[in-house]
Amino acid sequence: MYTLIAPAKINLYLEIIGDRPDGFHELVMVLQSIDLGDRLTLDRTHSNSHLLTCNDPQLSGRDNLAYRAAELISERFPDAFASYGGVKIHLEKQIPVAAGLAGGSADGAAVLVGMNLLWNLGLTQGELQTLAAQLGSDLPFCVTGGTAIATGRGEQLDFIHSPPEPIWLVLAKHRNLAISTPWAYQTYRQQFSQKYIQHPDEQAARAQRIHAGPMVGAIATGDLAAMVAHLENALEAVVLPTYPAVNQLRQALLTAGAKGAMMSGSGPSVFALCESPDHAEAVKTKTANLLKDPNLDFWVTQFSHQGIHLASLE
Ligand code: C5P
Repeated sequence: MYTLIAPAKINLYLEIIGDRPDGFHELVMVLQSIDLGDRLTLDRTHSNSHLLTCNDPQLSGRDNLAYRAAELISERFPDAFASYGGVKIHLEKQIPVAAGLAGGSADGAAVLVGMNLLWNLGLTQGELQTLAAQLGSDLPFCVTGGTAIATGRGEQLDFIHSPPEPIWLVLAKHRNLAISTPWAYQTYRQQFSQKYIQHPDEQAARAQRIHAGPMVGAIATGDLAAMVAHLENALEAVVLPTYPAVNQLRQALLTAGAKGAMMSGSGPSVFALCESPDHAEAVKTKTANLLKDPNLDFWVTQFSHQGIHLASLE
């Protein structure tokens, strides 16, 4: 039996460069794991079918990426499936759902990593990332975690060093708000496709600029002020006008003294970068007092250098 932690991610940078022949968008992103994760236990069912249970019963269906990851591994490794049988997955959700934090992707990635262990498949990180990309654009990053530049669909990864000192953040999300990622990208295309870069070579050249750009420099030196100055998320342009509550939350975090605040991924979660754990706690309390919204959830957490990892024994 294995117990794994599947950390969430935030996007410190998300630029939409253009369309891709596969119907997705060509992106350039900086992805960062955070110290908020789901917990998954994997064991053998001693039968020929997989089973997924979850503390949120609505998530225990076969469309859950955790279940689909088990199916993918079984299809790819029929001999291992025949000898080890199905897997029993129990998922304890901590990461809010449909929040722009790649929670579902992290769970799928954890099942790939866990089954690699359970079935002694001996797959490398690179092989796991390649499998992961078939389930979704964010999964390859979730396998390895830490800090990475992501290009292409989001699956081409260059891992970079995480900031040298811990970076603290407040994460906030309206409990009753979920935003569809396909909706966010489709709406962005409707509104901004006239400025998309068309030629693949020009798209690639644009994406490469990130490597020597100010956000990557700020991360390398752990310069919080520079990091804050270069936060970017193109999807805010479509999500914030449609969901004023998200914009209000972002503003409230800034009013409460956060160094910088931005929506993560396609939202609706918003993160606020802070100087220390005490500063983050103060920003959280002030924001809660400003908005007085019983539907708001808050987490104080920090950047993490880990992707999927075994839970430490308690
Ligand atoms: O890959 P994933 O399942 O996370 O993507 C969800 C949706 O987000 C896609 O169906 C697509 O509408 C949009 N998307 C995109 N370009 C990307 C990644 C996602 O248009 N690079």
